[in-house]
Amino acid sequence: MKIFAIETSCDETSAALIEAEKGDKKVKLLSNAVASSLSLHAKTGGIIPEIAAREQVKYIIPTILEALKPIGSLENVDAIAVTYGPGLIGSLLVGVETAKALSYIYKKPIIPVNHLIGHIYANFIENDDIEFPALALVVSGGHTDLVILKKHGEIKWIGGTRDDAAGEAFDKIGRILELPYPGGPHIEARAKEGNLKRFFFPRPLIDSNDFDFSFSGLKTAALREINKLKGQGTLSEKDINDLCAGVQESIIDVLIKKTLKAAEKYKVKSILLSGGVSANQTLREEFKKEIEDTGIKFFAPARNLSTDNAAMIASAAFFNYKEEPWDKIIADPELYFD
Ligand code: KG4
Ligand code: ZN
Repeated sequence: MKIFAIETSCDETSAALIEAEKGDKKVKLLSNAVASSLSLHAKTGGIIPEIAAREQVKYIIPTILEALKPIGSLENVDAIAVTYGPGLIGSLLVGVETAKALSYIYKKPIIPVNHLIGHIYANFIENDDIEFPALALVVSGGHTDLVILKKHGEIKWIGGTRDDAAGEAFDKIGRILELPYPGGPHIEARAKEGNLKRFFFPRPLIDSNDFDFSFSGLKTAALREINKLKGQGTLSEKDINDLCAGVQESIIDVLIKKTLKAAEKYKVKSILLSGGVSANQTLREEFKKEIEDTGIKFFAPARNLSTDNAAMIASAAFFNYKEEPWDKIIADPELYFD
């Protein structure tokens, strides 16, 4: 079976093709085309929804044609999957309405996919080692959530952020430090040069009895240090590197400790890291180190499949195959875990 997918929930325009047969534990990736309007948003320090959607209108058809190259035409696919939420409404509409039109023209079933569940399923691309029950940590620009997967199609949310998402904390602190947008990868690069011992930032809710997170206090604490340093003169490159090291460590520390606590409580066999922040190499390495003696398997998607892409949407569609009438699918910006 071949599933073609479209993902346009934020600033990426992506189309992808996967192949798998019933009973398979992984999907095979045939193509994954991604066009990003990130460089346009870098100038303004954040995503401007209207610009993102206008770029998606421009790139959706070329991206689809690129992803279809291995099979030539949509006539040769078995189903079309599309992200229908959460996300920016203008962006989602580009993908959803295109997928509906293609489904109607080519008479193919259409499978609407939740973007957050899509991130989790990036882990099932070319990887058949995952064992259930699994615990997924979804860390993206808009979400930080812990969910249990008992098996495919059985997902239970157990906790999430009460304020800023982890990616949002990276991006907001990046902006205060005048680093390019998005802040995450830049903070990671700066942190590699920084002194971890110089700043110790708070770890909110690290010992709380639930699986919730809170990152807005970290932004305030970082701002306080930055203003203090600025009061003493200008912020040096070394100051920025050290601040980034401290901020990143605080975020990583909370994410790992809470995830391991949930893994223990729910007796999971696998931990699946996912979402844009999972591209962070330090986060992956520290997770691997902490998990070493627990007997739990640790997975994170290939780095190019960590940030938004349609391959993960196709993978989620395969393992949670549920078609809907093409004319009933409506973009839902507020969609959350069911
Ligand atoms: O999942 P994603 O591509 O889009 C959303 O669905 O939000 O995630 C984007 C987020 C941004 O906040 C970005 O700063 C963060 O992922 N990110 C990173 C890294 N690469 C991307 N955060 C930390 N370290 C990175 N290397
Ligand atoms: Zn995402």
